[in-house]
Amino acid sequence: MRKIGILTGGGDCPGLNAVIRGVVETCSRAGIEVMGLRNGWKGAIEGDAFPLTLKDVEGLQVKGGTILGSSRTNVMKIENGPEKVRESMKRLGLEGIVAIGGDDTLGVANQLTKLGMPMVGVPKTIDNDLSCTDYTFGFDTSANIVMEAIDRLRTTADSHARIMVVEIMGRHTGWIAVQGGIAGDANIILIPEFPKSIEEIEKIVLERKASGHRSTVIAVAEGFKLKGYTVEATVKDAFGNACLPEQEIGKTLAKVLEERTGIESRYVVLGHLQRGGSPSAFDRVLSLRLGAKAGELVANKQYGNMVALSSTDIVVADLDKAVTERKLVDKDLYQVAELLFR
Ligand code: F6P
Repeated sequence: MRKIGILTGGGDCPGLNAVIRGVVETCSRAGIEVMGLRNGWKGAIEGDAFPLTLKDVEGLQVKGGTILGSSRTNVMKIENGPEKVRESMKRLGLEGIVAIGGDDTLGVANQLTKLGMPMVGVPKTIDNDLSCTDYTFGFDTSANIVMEAIDRLRTTADSHARIMVVEIMGRHTGWIAVQGGIAGDANIILIPEFPKSIEEIEKIVLERKASGHRSTVIAVAEGFKLKGYTVEATVKDAFGNACLPEQEIGKTLAKVLEERTGIESRYVVLGHLQRGGSPSAFDRVLSLRLGAKAGELVANKQYGNMVALSSTDIVVADLDKAVTERKLVDKDLYQVAELLFR
């Protein structure tokens, strides 16, 4: 009987379980057994796996998180990492692996493909910044969480005539901040792709006050660069990504704006609330479709590829390209956000 492994790597996000269900549903029908590898690439290195049956994945698209567990283990940073994965695959009898992850996890899958290990990639990141796919699952759910948070923060900001800064996930790009910020009618949206100075931000705040607005809600992506202020991240993960909370951009902005404008300011870091809980309807369906397509690629032995969303279709994309280019928020979308800055 044919057999494959499946793993989830990197930061979790709502929809991972639905992808797993999609893969198992399709593979089972094609007579392929699926083994769940625990905790991302760690499970692949250690050969830590368990069988996933149709019964195990029933109703899974409604559940947040990942039943496989996740980690940021980097195979390429571990001594003989690729050979350890090859040995585990041999020992478990896996002909290939479906890797569900962001640029780091898929980057490893891409390198292992080049070393002759059959891989299929499923793009995953709450940040929505992977190339070759129109949206990544989990992003819609988190943008909705941000929107709801802004709705709530506005009423308290208005009551107290305050500046309310909401710090949102997105270390390299501002997709969640823009989508959630526009939907929630944030008055200023600040993202890494479009740096601004404190003077520019202060001007909008003061103009709002002068025109009779009681409060200003600012949605800021955690990776936003305030011109003139630099905070070097000292803590990095196994893939060299800066762990950004220490930049404390939300806290910095609230403090500096209060000092400069005299308007009382507060900040909220939404953090992992944005990644927890069950997926939205959009993400449940998208994830299940991506998983089903990944299972189809396995059945047809079309390894070395990634599945992706293109317009409304699930398509096959180039794994190599997806991991080398980051998808940034474009000017057109940011210009729509800027219409709200008044
Ligand atoms: O890359 C996804 C992401 O959620 C980023 O938006 C965030 O900076 C990071 O992961 C947080 O990682 P961790 O869960 O390791 O704190």
